[in-house]
Amino acid sequence: MLNEAVDGTFTQARNTGTEALRERIAAELLAARERTTGLTGVDDHDLTAQHSPLMSPLVWDLAHIGNQEELWLLRNVGGRDPMHPEIDPLYDAFEHPRAERPKLPLLPPAEARAYAHEVRGRALDLLAATPLDGPAPLLRDGFAFGLIVQHEQQHDETMLITHQLRQGPAVLTAPEPPDTRTGPLPAEVLIPAGPFTMGTDTEPWALDNERPSHQLELAAFRLDTTPVSNAAYQRFIDDGGYDDPRWWAEAGWAHRQQAGLTAPLFWRREGGQWLRRRFGVTEPVPADEPVLHVSWYEADAYARWAGRRLPTEAEWEKAARFDPATGRSRRYPWGDQDPTPELANLGQRHLRPAPVGSYPAGESPYGVRQLMGDVWEWTASDFRPYPGFRAWPYEEYSEVFFGPEYKVLRGGCFAAAPVASRGTFRNWDYPIRRQIFSGFRTARDAEQD
Ligand code: AVJ
Ligand code: FE
Repeated sequence: MLNEAVDGTFTQARNTGTEALRERIAAELLAARERTTGLTGVDDHDLTAQHSPLMSPLVWDLAHIGNQEELWLLRNVGGRDPMHPEIDPLYDAFEHPRAERPKLPLLPPAEARAYAHEVRGRALDLLAATPLDGPAPLLRDGFAFGLIVQHEQQHDETMLITHQLRQGPAVLTAPEPPDTRTGPLPAEVLIPAGPFTMGTDTEPWALDNERPSHQLELAAFRLDTTPVSNAAYQRFIDDGGYDDPRWWAEAGWAHRQQAGLTAPLFWRREGGQWLRRRFGVTEPVPADEPVLHVSWYEADAYARWAGRRLPTEAEWEKAARFDPATGRSRRYPWGDQDPTPELANLGQRHLRPAPVGSYPAGESPYGVRQLMGDVWEWTASDFRPYPGFRAWPYEEYSEVFFGPEYKVLRGGCFAAAPVASRGTFRNWDYPIRRQIFSGFRTARDAEQD
């Protein structure tokens, strides 16, 4: 029952909401660019070098960030003509594999920076001039801007991986994560059987693969309270876990043999001690930290050695989002509030995970810790569409990757931005990959007791 006065108030309130959204978008664009600037603040040699055949040169990520922003905001939303159509194929991720990108006639550092800067200036003009409450689906809740903010932050994580692979002295520094551990925790918690809602229809900037929401009925299971620690993982190594095919999936064992795996990536043994290289510094492997830089095959082998298994993606999401008090799925383990530094280790504030058992304020209703942030967690599941999936706004974000060759990772990590980390957010990679900031936790069926 809207009378005119109320209607007028409503319109005004909506405009205020749109202004707040515009400000939020501008702040997110700025935060992403500050991150990008920090990660590309190295000399021209470092920017253009191939630090690893697994990665692009940093200068490619920089211009690719600008190119995607030009494509989605300036051209698709703004209707502008391409600024430099001849460079588009260079920055199309599907045209050239990463290993070949250093040989392409890429924009040199100064031009790549100028291009990204020019695009950004025009994108901010567009933001100021574009209604965010109109009918255009690409603009609903500022989605196109949200897509571009998340895209830049995703490449900021990719560039941080390149920094981790880079040889030579450290160029990045950050404060240590705080030690927020409380008392001893139970090793695992029970998640009772019952229905829960997976995925979302309401999260405004959720990507296509997080949609639509759907009901699932899961059996009871038990889940580790924390990610698996380096100390626990070392027991698997010490017990000969890397030499016993019983623990390994068949393809995992073949890969372990062919690649000569004996420990997580970046680890090396010196005397009786395990050391690791982290952003250019060699240090003893910290016993209490979540294990990092393991492949899905290693995580799966550890879980079997421990008499357990990886959680399915649905189990992970139920543990992270389901609130047994209300029966509803929430945005994050701690509720619907956006992440803060007290709740999770996200956003490259720290260049390492916090010790296992940290972030009591961020635990889920079932008492599971560190589901968001710290390390990406491998799940047992292949990357598949949810029932009713619709590719949007482009097939190359998710759809072309669906299938058994990719495994899903959940929960974000210390390198992932809050804006690109949600209880519904899905990451994926090949099961051999371990330069990513990957760890895991384990589960088991509850019927075993
Ligand atoms: C969702 C992290 C798998 O980096 O390949 C970046 C994100 N998509 N540009 C990736 C992405 C297009 C994607 N992941
Ligand atoms: Fe990209």
